[in-house]
Parts: sequence; C-alpha cells; structure tokens
Amino acid sequence: MALVDWSKRYGLFFHRVRVLVTGGAGFIGSHLVEALAGLGAGVVVLDDLSGGSRSNVESFPLADLRIGSILDVELLRRAMRDCRYVFHQAALGSVPRSVEQPRAYHQANATGTLNVLEAARETGVRRVMFAASSSAYGNSEQLPKIESMPPLPASPYAANKVAGEALMRAYANSYNLDTVSLRYFNIFGPRQNANSAYAAVIAAFAKALLSGQRPTIYGDGEQSRDFTFVENAVHANLLAARHETPLQGEVLNVACGQRITVNELAMKMAQSLGRPDLTPAHAADRAGDVKHSLADLSLINQTLGYQPIVPFGDGLDQTMNWYRTAGV
Ligand SMILES: NC(=O)c1ccc[n+]([C@@H]2O[C@H](COP(=O)([O-])OP(=O)(O)OC[C@H]3O[C@@H](n4cnc5c(N)ncnc54)[C@H](O)[C@@H]3O)[C@@H](O)[C@H]2O)c1
Repeated sequence: MALVDWSKRYGLFFHRVRVLVTGGAGFIGSHLVEALAGLGAGVVVLDDLSGGSRSNVESFPLADLRIGSILDVELLRRAMRDCRYVFHQAALGSVPRSVEQPRAYHQANATGTLNVLEAARETGVRRVMFAASSSAYGNSEQLPKIESMPPLPASPYAANKVAGEALMRAYANSYNLDTVSLRYFNIFGPRQNANSAYAAVIAAFAKALLSGQRPTIYGDGEQSRDFTFVENAVHANLLAARHETPLQGEVLNVACGQRITVNELAMKMAQSLGRPDLTPAHAADRAGDVKHSLADLSLINQTLGYQPIVPFGDGLDQTMNWYRTAGV
C-alpha cells in the first residue's frame, strides 16, 4: 500500500502514456511501476531478473514484461518502441561486488546505459531519467553534498554511475535527447532485498531483528546517512518526466535532507519490530565507508520543485510493517 496518493499529485498526466522502466522488477523500479501503472500509464518492464523478481511486479497491470538484458540491443530497442519516457533503473548495485567484478559492472552499468541512450535516440523517446548514485561524491567529508562538488568515485560501481551521468549530458548535448541524472541517497522501503550478502543496511537490520539476531554495526554507529523512503525517489522521477522545459543532463540529488545515525536507526528498528532487547553488535569499521552523508536539495528543488513527501519515520514504519508481514 503506497503512502502517497499519486493521482492527487499527477492527475491524468501519465494516463495512456507508454513508458519503459528498465530494472522494473527490482526494488526502486517496482515502486515506479506501481505508481505509473496506478496512474494509467502503459508500463513496459525490461529486467533480466539478476537482482529483481517477477513477484515484485506481477500484481500490477503491465503493458509488457520482458525478461532480458539491456545488453541485448535489439530487445532493448523493441521494448522502447512507442515509449515517451524511459526510467533507467537497471544496474548491478553492490559497491563491494563491483570491486570484485569490475568488468561485469562496467558492462551492465556503463555499456548498458550507453545502450539505453542509443535505443532512446533511435526510437524517438522524449526523456530519459537515469538512476545515478550519491556514491559519486566518494569519500569527501564535505557536508552537505552539493552537485557542484567534483565527482570522486571510489569504486568501480561509483565510476560506472558517474560515466552514466556523463553519457546523459553528452547525449543531451550531442543529439538533443532530453536526459536527467537523479543521484539517489540511501533509498529504502518495501521490497528491498534483505537476502544478499550485500544487502543495504535497513534491509539487513530487518532480517537480523526478525530472525532474533542482533544487527551488526560496522564501527561506532555514529556514522550517519540521508535515508530516503523510496516513494520520494518515485516522486523525483515523475516530477522530472513531467517537467515542462528541456532537461539537458542535469545532475540532481534525491534525498530526504535529514541525517540519521546508524545507532539511532538500529534503536528505532528494534523498537518498531518489538525487539528492543536485540541491541546492536559492533564490528570493525569497513574500509572505505564514509562517515556522514547528507544531501543538499536546493538544486532539485529549484529545477523540479522537489521536496521529500514522505518523512523518514513514516517511511520506516511502513517498511517495518512490510518486512514483518511479507517476511524477509
Ligand atoms: N537502493 C539505493 O539506495 C540506490 C542508491 C543509488 C542508486 N541506486 C540505483 O537505483 C537503481 C535501482 O536500484 P535498486 O536498489 O532498486 O536495485 P535492484 O537490484 O533491486 O534493482 C535493479 C534491477 O535491475 C535489474 N538488472 C540488473 N542488470 C540488468 C541488465 N543487464 N538488464 C536488465 N535488468 C538488469 C535487476 O534484475 C534488478 O531488478 C540502480 O540503478 C541502482 O544503481 C540505488
């Protein structure tokens, strides 16, 4: 159950509009699919199910579900036919795994993004929204993170995402294709995969707490993040698609604009799941982890009129309810 009434915000704007969501069977992609299908869009999903699953989208009315890769240029072109907007979410997502498999990551995330842009150019898509990442800011300690800071990718994954941003800008400039890069900060919510060695922190804590184990915190837990409920990321994408004047590869932060420490997070989650006895266990710091992350939201606010629409606490409650009922 969405916390946001999308039709109140977007009315008939997406009604009968054909759109492609790459990676639509994944966590964030499936929330975009849910919102767009609810708004009456003809939603095409292209996903190779390497990280997502059919069950994430099978309850939504889809125009088409194509199982396959964005590395299959012909399939991508067919999936994009007659689409007005492309929400490019498909990617391999783990920073540590990208360090182990830089070539596979470059293929899926950088070459895959080039393929999406080429197909968009060939099929006459009106605008491409790209799922960029706050990892572009690297280990810089400056807070808040503002888009004018130089990108400092510290992993192959971050480098792929910066390459994707550069391609978005280059295609706007070279081919007049409308594009925008949305730099997501720590997105969380229902359907985020908890069953991976590389699970994001909220999913990993939920899994530990629901199986009666203490969550593990790396370091002293005073590190903080701008945790962002997934419907805020959906909102940023829909605002970008609806934007009236051309977008030319702008890079925009998408976040909540608020910092929560990992200690606070663990405490709130343990309370919410009725296990305040499961206090966190602390392990050694993970090399390369940034201490704090917080987004400056002025640029996305000026450009798209974006403000977070679901506060952290409401999003966390909804997410805990989901893990409790759907299981992890
Ligand atoms: N979750 C976050 O906090 C976060 C932060 C920054 C950026 N992002 C980006 O947002 C996007 C969505 O992330 P998510 O958290 O929903 O991850 P996810 O793994 O749940 O979703 C990614 C989807 O892409 C699919 N996919 C991977 N490679 C593919 C390929 N070659 N062809 C077709 N489909 C492919 C996967 O099967 C999966 O369904 C990704 O691009 C990710 O890099 C996420």
